[in-house]
Amino acid sequence: MNILRIVYLASLFLIDKSLSAKCTTTRTGNDVSTDCHGKGFRYVPKNIPNDTTYLDLSANELFVIFNFAFSRLKHVSSLKLSSAQISVIESNAFSGLVKLTSLDLCNNTLDIHSLPETVFDSLSFLRILDLSQNNFRYYPEKILVKLSELERLSINGINDQTFGNGFRSLRKLTYLKFEPCTITRMDNNTFDVFKNIQLKELIFQCKIRYVEPGALNPFKLIERLDISKNFNVRISYLLQLLNGLMDRIVTSIDFSHNFRTIPAADVLLASQFAMIGAVCVKEVDLTRNRIISIQSGGINLMKHKNCLEKLFSKKIVYG
Ligand SMILES: *[C@@H]1O[C@H](CO)[C@@H](O)[C@H](O)[C@H]1NC(C)=O
Ligand SMILES: *[C@@H]1O[C@H](CO)[C@@H](O)[C@H](O)[C@H]1NC(C)=O
Ligand SMILES: *[C@@H]1O[C@H](CO)[C@@H](O)[C@H](O)[C@H]1NC(C)=O
Repeated sequence: MNILRIVYLASLFLIDKSLSAKCTTTRTGNDVSTDCHGKGFRYVPKNIPNDTTYLDLSANELFVIFNFAFSRLKHVSSLKLSSAQISVIESNAFSGLVKLTSLDLCNNTLDIHSLPETVFDSLSFLRILDLSQNNFRYYPEKILVKLSELERLSINGINDQTFGNGFRSLRKLTYLKFEPCTITRMDNNTFDVFKNIQLKELIFQCKIRYVEPGALNPFKLIERLDISKNFNVRISYLLQLLNGLMDRIVTSIDFSHNFRTIPAADVLLASQFAMIGAVCVKEVDLTRNRIISIQSGGINLMKHKNCLEKLFSKKIVYG
């Protein structure tokens, strides 16, 4: 009897909790921000104001995004669906979101089967897409093909998968981040599909062990390169990648936090250090790479040493 009563009270409490879960809407000028973050929602609530422009449904338990879930919400330009345990998205789920420019699906359990081929067809204005921290084992090439306006993409980096035509069609892409990233090799044809894409920022925190000197060749307009946190590779070895950026003008290169797992040390020869100067780069971060010494004379060997404004290294900071 007592147990029954406790169960009954507990279920009343649960019902009450889900009924009282409310989103908060804030209006500032033309921006209408509706925050439904972390309210235990299992579906897209029905009472979201229809003039909402920014909608945060992150940290809920949505599991499935059903067809037409947002079709009333024609003014939403930014939609946050991160950490919402989503594994299925129906093909017309985003139908009606005619103004959507930013979609965050980070940290769900999406794989290639979760995203029907036509799921992004209605999102012709999408500029920012975050698919990182999902369960992809293959790149969702077919849905990328439609995203001709996309400027920023974050996605899992998958070892032994080539970048195919889906990436080639992202003509306006300027920012590409892999997270998490299991890629172990950068061959000199790895990035061929990016040849006609004017990528400015590449963030590649992976598991690189092998690189070929020309691998970065296709990135003709790169401004910011982050090849940090590849824990198993020596910086003296990674520096040869800069060969592929020879004579380019680059704002910053982050080569920090590589070579962390092995208790060992790295020594930079003057010729290796001088590779930094193959590129006209303003700022270089070489910290936390277990570099114990840099052979002198490297700076003099640098072709573009005048470009360098800041160099971060454990012991030396040239500024
Ligand atoms: C929102 O819905 C109301 C009816 O509930 C309607 O009158 C109004 O035009 C809609 N507004 C927008 C921005 O769609
Ligand atoms: C990812 O989502 C899970 C729930 O699905 C959550 O527990 C975890 O905190 C989230 N991680 C981050 C980094 O937000
Ligand atoms: C690419 O690397 C291979 C070795 O794996 C080499 O034979 C080839 O010449 C390289 N190509 C270019 C364009 O650098």
